[in-house]
Amino acid sequence: MAHGFLLFLLFSYIISINIHACNQIERYSLLSFAFTLSSPLLNWTSLDCCHWKGITCDQDDWITHLLLPSKGLKGGISPSSLRNLTHLTHLNLSHNSLYGSLETQFLLSLNRVEILHLSYNHLYGELPLSLPSSKIRIVDLSSNHFFGAIPSSFFQQASNLISFNVSNNTFTGYVPSSICLHYSPFVRLLDISSNQFGGNLALGLGECSKLQVFRAGHNNLLGLLPKYIYNATKLEEISLPINSLRGAISDKIVNLTNLKIFDLSPNQLSGELPLNLGKLSKLKFLTVDFNNLEGTIPTSLMNCTNLVELCLGINNFEGDISMLNFSRLSQLTKLDPRYNNFTGMFPVSLYSCRYLKAIALNRNHLEGQIQIEILSLKFLSFLTLGYNRFTNLTGTMKI
Ligand SMILES: *[C@@H]1O[C@H](CO)[C@@H](O)[C@H](O)[C@H]1NC(C)=O
Ligand SMILES: *[C@@H]1O[C@H](CO)[C@@H](O)[C@H](O)[C@H]1NC(C)=O
Ligand SMILES: *[C@@H]1O[C@H](CO)[C@@H](O)[C@H](O)[C@H]1NC(C)=O
Ligand SMILES: *[C@@H]1O[C@H](CO)[C@@H](O)[C@H](O)[C@H]1NC(C)=O
Ligand SMILES: *[C@@H]1O[C@H](CO)[C@@H](O)[C@H](O)[C@H]1NC(C)=O
Ligand SMILES: *[C@@H]1O[C@H](CO)[C@@H](O)[C@H](O)[C@H]1NC(C)=O
Ligand SMILES: *[C@@H]1O[C@H](CO)[C@@H](O)[C@H](O)[C@H]1NC(C)=O
Ligand SMILES: *[C@@H]1O[C@H](CO)[C@@H](O)[C@H](O)[C@H]1NC(C)=O
Ligand SMILES: *[C@@H]1O[C@H](CO)[C@@H](O)[C@H](O)[C@H]1NC(C)=O
Ligand SMILES: *[C@@H]1O[C@H](CO)[C@@H](O)[C@H](O)[C@H]1NC(C)=O
Ligand SMILES: *[C@@H]1O[C@H](CO)[C@@H](O)[C@H](O)[C@H]1NC(C)=O
Repeated sequence: MAHGFLLFLLFSYIISINIHACNQIERYSLLSFAFTLSSPLLNWTSLDCCHWKGITCDQDDWITHLLLPSKGLKGGISPSSLRNLTHLTHLNLSHNSLYGSLETQFLLSLNRVEILHLSYNHLYGELPLSLPSSKIRIVDLSSNHFFGAIPSSFFQQASNLISFNVSNNTFTGYVPSSICLHYSPFVRLLDISSNQFGGNLALGLGECSKLQVFRAGHNNLLGLLPKYIYNATKLEEISLPINSLRGAISDKIVNLTNLKIFDLSPNQLSGELPLNLGKLSKLKFLTVDFNNLEGTIPTSLMNCTNLVELCLGINNFEGDISMLNFSRLSQLTKLDPRYNNFTGMFPVSLYSCRYLKAIALNRNHLEGQIQIEILSLKFLSFLTLGYNRFTNLTGTMKI
């Protein structure tokens, strides 16, 4: 590093007449940024910092990109050191070992930043009051040690935000569900999973007409699974596992024609599955185990030919499971109706689901015999049949 400073001092006057070298204030910024870190893989020594590893400049030699993911950077990040990089649009420091907090001034000075990617570091503290500007589109602060509530003014300026990932931190307070209502209607990805967010999923998500992925699992969410979520018709994934959400799944769910993943296992949902669920032709993962759902499995579900996993275990479902014809579910790898009140025989149509890897039928009221055809399921490696009334098998069988 000392070498770098020396070069700076020696040649700074030459640079002033060299039109193809980077701006020296910016060069000095980068050096002081790297100076506080252990950065063995950076070889930032040459004069023209536009050619340094991880750096991209625009036509006027302003630094626009600082991309140093997985570069073994270690140490306290000094936000003030980047303050002079006023033309920065892309900042990616993910997968390093940086610690420190994000100061409000740091973000505000980066008022051209579009992409801020700081995931997988040891950054901590509360979030600054506001994201820098309407330019910001992607914010990924996931897998750090941030805590506290997201300030109500945080998204104030972020009118073009499309992706916000703060998963795997220790955030508390309310879910930023008004993000689309008041700030950016363009949000496509919202991942706040694995935090300590609480309260209801308040009104607002329904306004996210572009929302494709919504993950908020592993939090302390309460209250009803809100109906307005079904207004966000671009949704492809709703993952809310490990919360305490109540209420029934509305038949409005058919409006979510793009839905591929619906994961609400461990929650406190009740009521029956909507009869028209089968209209979700793209559905791949239906995961509602560990709830208080009841009633029968809608036969329409056998029309969801893209289903990969069907997890219904540990609920109060009932009905003759052998009446369901699974044969069109040719992609099915996992069927889990365990711990329910299903009756009937082992569904022979399952033998057509040739990619099945796991079948868990234990703790129901199933009866009859298991046919030898089960051996034609070449990928089957997990089968539990115990606590039923099958005649030629007892206990749990593992193939
Ligand atoms: C560091 O960069 C200088 C100048 O660009 C180059 O000559 C040298 O080989 C590089 N060293 C390593 C270890 O990459
Ligand atoms: C940042 O870098 C990581 C690791 O290379 C990469 O996975 C991620 O997509 C990058 N983020 C952005 C926004 O480009
Ligand atoms: C930023 O620029 C100002 C004015 O040129 C200068 O005083 C300051 O030292 C610079 N800071 C860094 C970290 O480069
Ligand atoms: C959010 O970031 C985590 C890593 O911290 C990653 O595993 C997850 O896939 C991201 N969420 C989305 C929706 O891409
Ligand atoms: C959560 O974040 C910590 C700290 O960055 C990281 O070590 C861990 O791998 C992350 N967990 C997941 C599941 O991404
Ligand atoms: C959902 O959409 C319906 C029909 O378009 C509309 O009447 C209703 O107000 C919307 N609800 C919310 C909470 O956005
Ligand atoms: C949901 O679908 C129904 C018809 O199935 C339609 O009348 C209603 O307007 C749709 N709502 C939204 C918000 O798209
Ligand atoms: C399954 O889809 C077919 C058309 O593809 C339709 O005729 C049939 O009624 C559907 N079955 C159920 C139970 O919804
Ligand atoms: C099965 O049904 C009986 C009543 O018919 C009920 O008492 C029992 O709790 C149910 N078991 C499960 C696992 O739903
Ligand atoms: C299940 O449906 C298939 C066609 O999708 C049909 O060929 C088969 O006979 C049906 N099986 C049963 C047991 O009804
Ligand atoms: C169960 O018994 C039936 C009739 O005896 C027999 O055809 C079938 O192969 C047995 N199933 C297994 C898995 O042993």
